[in-house]
Amino acid sequence: MQAPTGTKPLGERVQSSAGDLLLRPIRRDDVAALRRGFARLSAEEVRFRFLHPVTDLPDDMARALCEPDPRCGIALVLIDPPPASAPEIHAVARAHVDPATLCAEFALIVQQRYTGQGLGSLLMQRLIAACRTRGAVEIWGDVLVENGAMLELCEHLGFTRRTQWSDRGIVRVNLPLPP
Ligand SMILES: CC(C)(COP(=O)(O)OP(=O)(O)OC[C@H]1O[C@@H](n2cnc3c(N)ncnc32)[C@H](O)[C@@H]1OP(=O)(O)O)[C@@H](O)C(=O)NCCC(=O)NCCS
Repeated sequence: MQAPTGTKPLGERVQSSAGDLLLRPIRRDDVAALRRGFARLSAEEVRFRFLHPVTDLPDDMARALCEPDPRCGIALVLIDPPPASAPEIHAVARAHVDPATLCAEFALIVQQRYTGQGLGSLLMQRLIAACRTRGAVEIWGDVLVENGAMLELCEHLGFTRRTQWSDRGIVRVNLPLPP
């Protein structure tokens, strides 16, 4: 199995019902594709991903998202493989490893056309592996309580759930990553 953090720059070929995709780390030249991908999301997908309404992905924010800090940021995409002339991004998984606690916060989005095929689980598995490579001891994320798909996906991967007393609409899921 291939390492997910760019040791093989060509990435990993993944099958989907709409054709082959490439799973690879995000790149600085993905800005336009990331913005196009954001524009295709429904309001509910955006709310589930960001936990609140976000209407626009400005260029400077997209640039920052395409250049995660190599010391603590990990971002993986599912993208059309070469020779696509304007490849589209169909899914993104990212994590930030807190250098002080070595706990990694994750976020995931799989565009609706590609859901229900195991791609979200695959991205999470690759993200978890990348977090381990960075020395993370735990991975966690906040999920809206009505987001049954994500809660189930996390449960299948062994995450445990904790309702937030400060916000009953959010469930914190976490998975210890023992060495
Ligand atoms: C949640 C999300 C990531 C799931 O992606 P996906 O590629 O469909 O996930 P998978 O196909 O790997 O599904 C994994 C498991 O999740 C569950 N699941 C997936 N879609 C589901 C649905 N619509 N309803 C209930 N459970 C669902 C299933 O238990 C599935 O297990 P199975 O393979 O045994 O059926 C995707 O729907 C998404 O991006 N939603 C919007 C953004 C979001 O919610 N992000 C998470 C916030 S961190």
